[in-house]
Amino acid sequence: MAVVSSAHSTIFSKTSLFHHINGFKRFTFCLPFSTSAAVSLSAKKKWRQPVASSVLELGGNKIAKDDVVRDDPTNNVPDTMFSKLGMQLHRRNNHPLGILKNGIYEYFDTNYPNMFDKFDDLCPIVSVKQNFDDVLVPADHVSRSYNDTYYVDSQTVLRCHTSAHQAELLRRGHTHFLVTGDVYRRDSIDSTHYPVFHQMEGVRVFTPDNWEASGLDPTSYAAEDLKKSLEGLARHLFGAVEMRWIDAYFPFTNPSYELEIYFKEKWMEVLGCGVMEQEILKSNGRLNSVAWAFGLGLERLAMVLFDIPDIRLFWSTDERFTSQFSQGQMGVKFKPFSKYPPCYKDISFWINESFTENNLCEVIRGIAGDLVEEVSLIDNFPNKKGMTSHCYRITYRSMERSLTDEEINDLQWNVREQVQSKLNVVLR
Ligand code: DAH
Repeated sequence: MAVVSSAHSTIFSKTSLFHHINGFKRFTFCLPFSTSAAVSLSAKKKWRQPVASSVLELGGNKIAKDDVVRDDPTNNVPDTMFSKLGMQLHRRNNHPLGILKNGIYEYFDTNYPNMFDKFDDLCPIVSVKQNFDDVLVPADHVSRSYNDTYYVDSQTVLRCHTSAHQAELLRRGHTHFLVTGDVYRRDSIDSTHYPVFHQMEGVRVFTPDNWEASGLDPTSYAAEDLKKSLEGLARHLFGAVEMRWIDAYFPFTNPSYELEIYFKEKWMEVLGCGVMEQEILKSNGRLNSVAWAFGLGLERLAMVLFDIPDIRLFWSTDERFTSQFSQGQMGVKFKPFSKYPPCYKDISFWINESFTENNLCEVIRGIAGDLVEEVSLIDNFPNKKGMTSHCYRITYRSMERSLTDEEINDLQWNVREQVQSKLNVVLR
């Protein structure tokens, strides 16, 4: 039985080490950790429309555009990303991501009253240490590459997972917490991948009095509690579904698992989790403890729960989308308002050594924004001189209107020009 391949499967389960980062010159970029208090579910927060201002306030930090986007070789954050930083879709109670977040809060609040501290406004700009070192991501892990992660400078990134906050929250004394936030990854383009998406992280720490009475060793005790809690969460969200646990690998947990559910005739990955590595607990002031942790992608689950067919819709401000969702209405099925025709354009070129599909997708997204639905490699062949040709098919489609030929031709013309100039490839 196939596992549904859907939004943002974890990169951390990969152990492959095929990328290398050059040692760039160091820049300092200080961002104090947000001191904002845990958010209580009952405190109904009104979300603000993001202002078209050039300064954002994120987790108590004032961030200007040129703090994040700079013309500098250690910075690979595209111009368009700044506006995404202020959106915080997960904090809108009438948005599918906010509704899902609140639905998960509800599960934890009902089953573990007053136990979990909730954070949903921690600054997404974090240090390389927070994002990778603190959660034991190996120095040569692929996720650290400039190809996969947005670097503000050589020591600062847009967090690529909410696990980036684990260590800091443990150090601040939290033992039960949920962290929800926007996360950023350079990636390919299709209906389930978008460079910004949302995750929720959960952590629970146990002390000896918890496991001693059980007769289990601490690790088994934590693993059992983890499985029980997350099976309950999956039932809360999906009803009486069949589930299975898959052994997995994550740098931050051991043992590690993925939870899959059988939903709409397919196995679907719901989350990654495991028993936290002792080193993380010890380095952050928790001796003689064990903990479990999990991380889940909100889009992946919301697309299934609300029948949302394309990940770009989460960003739509079209009323025909936004008006279909309201606070507390979990799993209302989205009714597609129309399907406008796609337009396909191919582009072929000889690649060079530094070519990557993520770089190509970034160039295309920079020009076409959310009008690009998919970029797929349709032909790949070497010539006798050892050069390699790639042909990509770009699907343009708006979710909100019909595109004109002229508009698409303009986009494609720009794409051709910039692919050539920015990626140094030879168009065919
Ligand atoms: N950080 C992982 C990712 O982004 C998800 C994850 C897996 C989080 C296991 C965890 C965990 O806390 O225990 O792919």
